[in-house]
Amino acid sequence: MEHKQLKDFPADFLWGSASAAYQIEGAPFEDGKKASVWDNFVRIPGKTFKGTNGDIAVDHYHRYKEDVQLMKAQGLKSYRFSIAWSRILPEGRGEVNQEGLKFYENLIDDLVANGIEPIVTIYHWDLPQTLQDLYGGWESREIIADFVNYAEVLFKAFKGKVKYWVSLNEQNVFTNQGWAIATHPPGKTDLKLFYQVNHIANLTNAAVINKFHDMQMPGQIGPSFAYTPQYPKDSDPMNVLAAENAEEMNAHFWMDVYLYGAYPTAALTYLQENGLAPEFAEGDAELLKSAHPDFLGINYYQSATDAWNPLDGGVGAAEFNTTGKKGTTKESGVPGLYKKINNPFIERTNWDWEIDPEGLRIALRRITSRYRIPVMITENGLGEYDKLEDGAVHDDYRIKYLESHVKAIKEAMTDGCQVIGYHTWSFTDLLSWLNGYQKRYGFVYVDQDETMKGSLKRIPKDSYYWYQKIIADNGGNL
Ligand code: BG6
Repeated sequence: MEHKQLKDFPADFLWGSASAAYQIEGAPFEDGKKASVWDNFVRIPGKTFKGTNGDIAVDHYHRYKEDVQLMKAQGLKSYRFSIAWSRILPEGRGEVNQEGLKFYENLIDDLVANGIEPIVTIYHWDLPQTLQDLYGGWESREIIADFVNYAEVLFKAFKGKVKYWVSLNEQNVFTNQGWAIATHPPGKTDLKLFYQVNHIANLTNAAVINKFHDMQMPGQIGPSFAYTPQYPKDSDPMNVLAAENAEEMNAHFWMDVYLYGAYPTAALTYLQENGLAPEFAEGDAELLKSAHPDFLGINYYQSATDAWNPLDGGVGAAEFNTTGKKGTTKESGVPGLYKKINNPFIERTNWDWEIDPEGLRIALRRITSRYRIPVMITENGLGEYDKLEDGAVHDDYRIKYLESHVKAIKEAMTDGCQVIGYHTWSFTDLLSWLNGYQKRYGFVYVDQDETMKGSLKRIPKDSYYWYQKIIADNGGNL
């Protein structure tokens, strides 16, 4: 659709930015916190870029006040951050660690006092190690009760102060990387287990959403899904089918469960045929159907393009580009379903992520057509090498990226999509789980690198000032 005029953003649009506990906080064992699975996983040689870890990260735990002041000066309307489960319940269950709770209470109070809406992610991947050791973490249904109990502690503590809650961050990413391709903890490659773990995560997500609604919490809750819309290579019907397969297996497979409470038909048939389908216990189907998120969080970074990939001789899985050397990503796919190819119409980052603002509009349109639910963009951003020159970072490439994506949202909203907020990834620079500190996303540069001996000084980049203007104009001046 081409519009003669684009709609204005609503006055209460949440212009925000985001982060996650492990990637920014540091202080992994302070004030009663115990290890999460990430505190240990990063110490396995070869798992992260140059062995980088979040022991210091960007020291947000001690510098949160300075960070909030930078947010305020930028004019941020909302800030999405995650809570580290093992700060609140060091062993995942049992006694609440009041000092851990206090840290987040102080942060939330500081945000509210400075006119910034706190958006809390309950789980951004840092599972308490004790639960992993006790029953295999997400591999056991025991996690459902423990997670709901943890969330209830937060709901009670922050009722009325926090209005927006994200249940699970990128369930599709942490289950796939943890149990299918072994790049996240617990580092397994077992497809059958991956689908079972994911099923348990679905049940957990449903249970926590129900808990929120049962407690009549003021506000809204929803999961954040990493959505990569799929395109066919061309109009060859086999390539169109390949893209349909990729969309079904990588998108509907999660979003249908969140919004319809059931797995999509073709995906489930495929899993059954291959002995990979999740096992349903009594009551599972009802639980999935009973939960209704208030909004859908979308983390959008890129689109993907697919071609047919035969069962016989087709391309299989390949490693991600974690080197930052453009063009080094190898072809990958699932034989019998699809293979991912380079889209010749789209630019790529140095980590070979496709830069496709139109893809965000397409993503929003598809969600609106299929699910008719308000969307909160919970992440969008550009990871690049940034250079500090004479005390400044001229990240015009990031401005270009973000501006084109904000425009795509405006177009999608004019198409009729309901979008309640936009959160860039990320506010400050932070630790990229697998790519260290060299792949930077922030509005605020932090002097911290692979050696982890930086001064941690904060320096607003050019993009910080660009977003300040966008917020002040309510996105009007694109
Ligand atoms: C999302 C995650 O997958 O993408 C973030 O929610 C992550 O935690 C971000 O940092 C960017 O990924 P990467 O691998 O470039 O750090």
